[in-house]
Amino acid sequence: MNILAIETSCDDTCIAILKSKINGENFGILSNIVSSQVKIHAKYGGVFPSLAKREHQKNLPVVLRKALKMAENPKIDVITVTVGPGLEPCLWTGINFAKELAEKMNLPIIPVNHIEAHILANFIGGNPRIFPAICLVVSGGHTQLILMKGIGKYRILGETRDDAAGECFDKVARILGLGYPGGPIIAAKAAEFRISNAGSGIKLPRPMLNTKDYDFSFSGLKTAVLYLVKNLKSEKKLTKKKVQEICFESQQSIVDVLIRKTMKAAKDFRAKTVILGGGVAANEELKGQLKQKIEKEIPRTKYLVPGTEYCTDNAVMTAITAFFHSTRKTKNWKKVIANANLRIDENV
Ligand code: KG4
Ligand code: ZN
Repeated sequence: MNILAIETSCDDTCIAILKSKINGENFGILSNIVSSQVKIHAKYGGVFPSLAKREHQKNLPVVLRKALKMAENPKIDVITVTVGPGLEPCLWTGINFAKELAEKMNLPIIPVNHIEAHILANFIGGNPRIFPAICLVVSGGHTQLILMKGIGKYRILGETRDDAAGECFDKVARILGLGYPGGPIIAAKAAEFRISNAGSGIKLPRPMLNTKDYDFSFSGLKTAVLYLVKNLKSEKKLTKKKVQEICFESQQSIVDVLIRKTMKAAKDFRAKTVILGGGVAANEELKGQLKQKIEKEIPRTKYLVPGTEYCTDNAVMTAITAFFHSTRKTKNWKKVIANANLRIDENV
């Protein structure tokens, strides 16, 4: 079965073609194209939905041609598209494009949930699926802890009450004038600080670190950075070194809270696997420090993180999710609609 997948939930225009043996899980990635709009959104320090929609419309035909060419024009059996959660105008652009293709090629569509795709990105390489699992999905739009009892069986244990972890990285970078997306830039500056220093003299808050729930809050951290930077600027003390130090401490603050709550959930629910997913899962400190903690405190628990290119948005993860939900396929295209607030425990 060859699956053509379309993902336009945020600011990347992604198309991939995945080959799977029928009834088997021997996957081959025939093509995987991600057209990033980073340069366009960089001046706003975040994603501008109407601009992103226009870019998706422009990019989709080009990205499709590239994906088909790279895969050497295989016969496509089914089309899949992200229907939510995400930016509504962006989701619709992908869905309408999928419908046009499906009509032209007389193919069914499989609608996919973007958060589930971030989780199932871990099974592209054929990792064993051992449940229950605790999944931490951390992206630009979401921060959720999910109890997974199997594919399609999810319970949201907790989530952010305000900003997402990725959003916090992006906002801190914006305050420091470092560009967009903030995550990789903050991580690089933090690494520079780590090399030359023993520890940070700055102390930033770890919001909700000790609460008994599985929720998060990151807006207070961003505000703390805002005031700190304002003060340092007025005293003319915002040196290159200070910027590195703020990056180091902000990253550690986010990582500390994410790890504390994930470990609590893993222990409380006796997880057999801990799964990371989403753009922030590309963060080396989060990945490495969580690994150490699991090895030390719950060594029998498996730990899965996707390869970096499958942490950030891509359509291979959409394709694999469609593979696991192939019974959902429909030719009743009217039923395929965007849902910007779709939750993982709801039907698509
Ligand atoms: O999953 P994703 O590509 O898009 C959404 O679905 O939102 O995640 C994008 C987010 C951005 O906020 C970006 O700053 C963050 O992932 N990110 C990182 C890293 N790479 C991307 N955050 C921390 N460290 C990274 N290395
Ligand atoms: Zn995403």
